[in-house]
Amino acid sequence: MTDAPEYIPGLAGVPAARSSICLIDGSVGKLQYRGYPIEVLAERCSYEEVAYLLVFGRLPTTTQLDEFRNQMIAERGLKFRIIDLLKTLPESGEPMDALTAAVAAMGMFYKGDHISDPEFLRLSVIRLLAKVPTIVAAWDRIRKGDDPIKPSTELGHAANFLYMLEGKVPTSLAVKVFDVALILHAEHSMNASTFTARVTGSTLTDPYAVVASAIGSLAGPLHGGANEQVLSTLDGISDRSANGIRRWAEDRLARKEKVMGFGHRVYKVKDPRATILQGLATQLFAKFGSTPEYDVAVELETQMADLVGGKGIYPNVDFYSGIVYQKLGIPTDLFTPIFAISRVAGWLAHLLEQLEGNRIFRPTQIWVGEADRAFVSMDERS
Ligand code: CMC
Repeated sequence: MTDAPEYIPGLAGVPAARSSICLIDGSVGKLQYRGYPIEVLAERCSYEEVAYLLVFGRLPTTTQLDEFRNQMIAERGLKFRIIDLLKTLPESGEPMDALTAAVAAMGMFYKGDHISDPEFLRLSVIRLLAKVPTIVAAWDRIRKGDDPIKPSTELGHAANFLYMLEGKVPTSLAVKVFDVALILHAEHSMNASTFTARVTGSTLTDPYAVVASAIGSLAGPLHGGANEQVLSTLDGISDRSANGIRRWAEDRLARKEKVMGFGHRVYKVKDPRATILQGLATQLFAKFGSTPEYDVAVELETQMADLVGGKGIYPNVDFYSGIVYQKLGIPTDLFTPIFAISRVAGWLAHLLEQLEGNRIFRPTQIWVGEADRAFVSMDERS
């Protein structure tokens, strides 16, 4: 007789792939893309360079990067019918839902066989990287009653997104900070949305369906959606003294409520991305002044370390990202779509890896229901 397989909730610790894209050692806060430390990539690279590294597995030469950038610039625009589609959606709707709808619709406009045609697959990757930011910015304008701003053909990826929101060329500091934020969110191994992308991709459906499904997964408050909730959490702390913040945290923990922006399945120390984002926030504050939320955040981090640091619960990437985006003047409900703008590179890298030696995902289950039941006709049911 064989032993029944063990059920592991959330598949915690269960490998779902063999991968060479992202290495994490959560016990020491180590994060590497394709073997390069995140700290070095954040300091030395642009988002485009990191996207190339993730998707194609190596750092680009100058010529390769120029070609990649130019292809992305050429693909930034949206078909007018995608813009028309966005215009039909309710302006009070969630931006992540608008993004899912528009990306899924792209699959109807860009048809091809990504399995037998590598060039179609490569072009789909470029299109998705290039157009997701344009969709997010266009939706933000449309819901406010403004016309979308045409993408620039001169600005880099980060600068162009900020430009498409307001029509103003951003400062070099804003561009640098936003570019680093995009790099930090670009990939993170087998998180829920990446797993979703791999599962969807394993059915050999088109790349647009893969990314649309991953966006839906990212939207949840336990995943990418946490970044939007951190600011409202911080704003909801009325007594901002050290004692007041400690009492607030103790109350929350006593009620077994999660504090958004803390905790991680993999990291048992402070997320290295949170450390870099905190540094970016202080750069912005040096030029534009601090925010009250930041002081509350720093004190909350101290109090939480004392209360639950022993359980390995520390700030994750979402804790300081909202503070940075708020200082850049970005509306709160675009924080998660911005996560998607960045993470699309990781999803696509995983799609390409999944397609090499693909096998469809089809796990098993542990049956806990009744079996072999006698059917009861409608008039005999109570
Ligand atoms: N606040 C308070 N307690 C927490 C928190 C938190 N943020 N996170 C975990 N815990 C506690 C939890 O209550 C549980 O305690 P106990 O063992 O006493 O029941 C223990 O730690 C384990 O928690 P879990 O929810 O079983 O851990 P998980 O690995 O399943 O979940 C997580 C990881 C990120 C979903 C979780 O830490 C969480 O819900 N955090 C808040 C939401 C958040 O910030 N999400 C962003 C994650 S990072 C970016 C991303 O992936 O999108």
